[in-house]
Amino acid sequence: MLAGIRDVLIITRPDETQHFERVLGDGSQWGLEIQYAQQPEPKGIAQAFLIGKEFIDGSPTTLVLGDNIFYGHGLPETLYRMTQSKKGATVLASWVTDPERYGVIAFDEAGKPTSIQEKPNPAPSNWAVTGYYCYDERVVDVAESIAPSARGELEITDVNAWYLEQGDLAVEKLGRGYAWFDTGTHQSMLDACNFVGLLEARQGTKLACLEEIAYHMGYITLDQLAAHAERLAKSGYGQYLKTVVDGSF
Ligand code: G1P
Repeated sequence: MLAGIRDVLIITRPDETQHFERVLGDGSQWGLEIQYAQQPEPKGIAQAFLIGKEFIDGSPTTLVLGDNIFYGHGLPETLYRMTQSKKGATVLASWVTDPERYGVIAFDEAGKPTSIQEKPNPAPSNWAVTGYYCYDERVVDVAESIAPSARGELEITDVNAWYLEQGDLAVEKLGRGYAWFDTGTHQSMLDACNFVGLLEARQGTKLACLEEIAYHMGYITLDQLAAHAERLAKSGYGQYLKTVVDGSF
């Protein structure tokens, strides 16, 4: 939403679609258009482009992994710039101590990306590719042209490697003031929860409060925001929305 995206396709395993739909609906309450699609088997992240082909409809597109959490001052501007660039591919990289768990990018001395590999061991650098990817209109064709990897998945890293070969892969590096979590394990989910809880408690602001973001992005009006606050008035979340309506944040 902060990147200016309002048309969203949420792809889940078939038995989970209803849960997402129950919580998020059609998105109109936040000025969005949310649609749903299913991935019957875990056949890789890049399969999203085949499943979402009609939704993408030949446009540039952004792919976000649902288990990735990002936080940092200035992040909205970075994501907005990446998403609106619409030329080639842009990935977001983060320096980590355990790069073997991720897609990894290596750079030459001038800072140009030289290779991108999925879970290399040993890793050629500590720069992990995070789950926020922006592509131009060629991405569906590229995804259709790649073959499944040894683990039987259409790898997003192979899509990115294609863009790198064309000289069309840009990398945004997250600096030291950012936090990135891939919440794919119980421990990392707990770490992310603790991080969010700590920040919210200390700062008194909410992270990823969709109504607040929708209002500040101009996707909903102040009256609509006030209606959300009213509907949720009995919860701390609703009380927070009321402070947003009152102009505190
Ligand atoms: C996936 C991608 C990997 C990327 C990671 C980010 O890994 O394949 O390149 O670095 O997400 O969260 P997976 O979750 O499939 O292990």
